[in-house]
Amino acid sequence: MHAISVLGCGYLGVTHAACLAELGHDVTAVDIDARRVAALADGRVPFYERGLQELVTRHLANGRLRFTTSYARAAAEADVHFICVGTPQRGDGAADLRSVDAVVEELGPRLTTESLVVGKSTVPVGTTARIAERLRRTAPAGAGVRTAWNPEFLREGHAVADTLRPDRIVLGVTSASDEKVLRDVYARLADAGVPFVVTDPATAELAKSAANAFLATKISFINALAEVCEAAGADVGGLADALAHDPRIGARSLRPGVGFGGGCLPKDLRALQARARELGVGHALAFLAEVDAVNLRRRERAVDLVRRQVPDGIAGRRVAVLGAAFKAESDDVRDSPALHVADALRRDGAEVAVYDPKAMANARRGHPDLHYAADHRQACAGAHAVAVLTDWPEFRDIDPRELGGVVARRSVVDGRGALDPEEWRRAGWAYTALGRPAAL
Ligand code: UGA
Repeated sequence: MHAISVLGCGYLGVTHAACLAELGHDVTAVDIDARRVAALADGRVPFYERGLQELVTRHLANGRLRFTTSYARAAAEADVHFICVGTPQRGDGAADLRSVDAVVEELGPRLTTESLVVGKSTVPVGTTARIAERLRRTAPAGAGVRTAWNPEFLREGHAVADTLRPDRIVLGVTSASDEKVLRDVYARLADAGVPFVVTDPATAELAKSAANAFLATKISFINALAEVCEAAGADVGGLADALAHDPRIGARSLRPGVGFGGGCLPKDLRALQARARELGVGHALAFLAEVDAVNLRRRERAVDLVRRQVPDGIAGRRVAVLGAAFKAESDDVRDSPALHVADALRRDGAEVAVYDPKAMANARRGHPDLHYAADHRQACAGAHAVAVLTDWPEFRDIDPRELGGVVARRSVVDGRGALDPEEWRRAGWAYTALGRPAAL
């Protein structure tokens, strides 16, 4: 058992803290947002993540997990500190490291005994070295404060499962003793057979950026082919299926649709390019700009398909947008393709009614000009077009005959390849989808 602090109580931090408690450690989780900490200390997880609420409740009750705003407590109670704060996108595309730096400034001067500071956030390559240098100067324990990078690969919506049963654990360390500490922290996962990749911090930092850039590239690859399918009268759904059977390609992150969004893939893609440019090798990753462009074009294409569904114009017409979260099983709306499309339709003059099973509050906060409906049926009432833009199972299960009774016009745009075209057409709907020929 280790005494661990987790610095930052966002998706990553709360999940990591609760899972470390689940792995048997004693965890102090810190955030500077007093309201967030108060809610968490009271057992309320301020976002939706399957299975997380139960873990937090359990480990608050057994005393293995606590939430505080006090860095002094974190420094006093723990000897392994995980940095889990956000690294959002700056105006120029690079990563904004102010939160990471603020953690280092708060923690460093309080580290009076030997300790290991471990980064988990996605950061530009070179960050660990910079932090190590800073801690050497600010920490009273001096060289007794070590640094390492241990990137996190969890997916929102599967965060708990991905943390407790990861595909791999990457340790970016500079000494065998730091490696041992981290192997100890994750001993139960090692026992369960999770592979470890032990490397240097710079490689570990890059491993995370590269993984997300690869996933984004894979999604944009199939979406670029969707554009070709649209021109050629082919079906990108069938194409993706045909490719996915090749185990070298595989089905995952090959689902065509309105593209990737969220707090990670888009910004990590841009931050990696920005860092490569800083390092003088921008040309090596120039293709990632095209990955980004393909992705954004899918959103425009979705807007265009909705416009075409309403030949007499969408201005003043009601359009239903089903989905607001950037993906199913999440209430996260950061850079959500669904809301991007909804906003564009609203700017065109449509009266856009949005429904999402989990993300309504977050959507409303950031997009107050859209209308919000109590359920998908209400969103579709009187609609001249329905756009399905997040692949929630609830939308897959919609009965098109029943929904046909509430809309003004039976026309649907399937932005996620989520619906059965035959079933919808049989129920009298004009069905169109990204990357599918009109007749399919
Ligand atoms: C992503 C990575 O998958 C994680 O490995 C990584 O740890 C995480 O970012 C992070 O950096 O923290 P996440 O953003 O939760 O995780 O979501 P994904 O499941 O990868 O989906 C990202 C976006 O791509 C979503 O908008 C999703 O709808 C879209 N997507 C995903 C597709 O359009 N097609 C696919 O086949 C898969």
